[in-house]
Amino acid sequence: MSESVVAPPNTRFTLTPHLQQAERTVAFIRELYGTQEFVPLHAPVFVGNEKAYLAECIDSTFVSYVGKFVERFEKAVMDYTGAKYAVACSSGTAALHMALHVGGVKPGDLVLMPALTFVATANAVRYCQADPLFIDTDRTTLGFDMAQLTDYLSTSTERRSDGVYDKATGRRISACLPVHLFGHVSRLDELVTLCAEHGVTLIEDSAEAMGSFFKGRHAGTFGQIGVFSFNGNKTITTGGGGMVITDDEAVAKRIRHITTTAKVPHRWEFFHDELGYNYRLTNVNAAIGVGQMEQLDRYITSKRSIAARYAAFFSNGPMRHFAEPADCRSNYWLNAILLADRTERDAFLDYANDNGVMSRPAWTLMNKLPMYSHCPALSVEGAQWLEDRLVNIPSSPIV
Ligand SMILES: Cc1ncc(COP(=O)(O)O)c(C=O)c1O
Repeated sequence: MSESVVAPPNTRFTLTPHLQQAERTVAFIRELYGTQEFVPLHAPVFVGNEKAYLAECIDSTFVSYVGKFVERFEKAVMDYTGAKYAVACSSGTAALHMALHVGGVKPGDLVLMPALTFVATANAVRYCQADPLFIDTDRTTLGFDMAQLTDYLSTSTERRSDGVYDKATGRRISACLPVHLFGHVSRLDELVTLCAEHGVTLIEDSAEAMGSFFKGRHAGTFGQIGVFSFNGNKTITTGGGGMVITDDEAVAKRIRHITTTAKVPHRWEFFHDELGYNYRLTNVNAAIGVGQMEQLDRYITSKRSIAARYAAFFSNGPMRHFAEPADCRSNYWLNAILLADRTERDAFLDYANDNGVMSRPAWTLMNKLPMYSHCPALSVEGAQWLEDRLVNIPSSPIV
């Protein structure tokens, strides 16, 4: 027989070692979620009072920016996080924009933020007409590379009467914006001290960290302002929505004011005393949020037990499950695993997604996106290492 008529090998029996791992992982995820159907990355769960509250909201006719569910939702988040003030916004991005704007970020400033994050973090900086200064990510905590940040602030900046300036560009650094990736919170005590020492305002992008704690304190309460997202894929959702939390009454008041078009309260007159935004959360969305907050602890318990099962499954394989960092009680918003390199990452992603188990890589680093490629950046080696290897796997709560 000539070589040309030999049947092609059956790919099922020629799985490379990394595809064998992918196959085992996909089977495990199907068993975990008890389904042979499509497994989403993170699906919202509505098992509480959400529908009843929505009906109540509609019946009340207060469906827009005014209504008791907005107040109840803000109160629920304040009670849960321990923050003194909360202002519900139309999205996490809008909340971030307001946090930076009211937190003092001015046109031309620089904001210290990780290169490895969702694009909304950088976009909010740009909405203030400022630019990000990209910092590296620690491979073990997923937070800032603290050694790099400390070294940068002590050797490459100078204090002037109105703040701290980057020596290389002569631009003011007005805020430091850590991101608690996938719900993991790390070394916030050190970051608070570092920012205080250098006169930089700390604002936390806690969009992914509702229900996460560091040393017993809720994420978002360490900085001057913290921000949450309630997008449909988050631990709790309002459909779309976000929130700013703070202990500073003046900050909360100003954010409340400018998110409602900066209208000066009056029975009939329309007078707006500065540039404002239409950024408030509607009562409809907040009604869902109140129902979701009542379920938050249940979701976290489930998500943490799913993370424990993943940790056990990956403990003896070549892929590594990402555990919460020291002193953090994570919500495990999205479980993350590390593969050997980008080739294995892509092979895993192809296999899992082809087989109906939704998985995705970390985001492309911000400094590689066209609109941010000119922005100043320190070495982002750790972030690149993570981009090449990290994969998020299904993490919806099972309740
Ligand atoms: C880290 C991070 N920042 C900001 C946001 C923006 O939130 P939203 O989608 O609610 O605007 C998200 C989520 O989408 C996020 O993951």
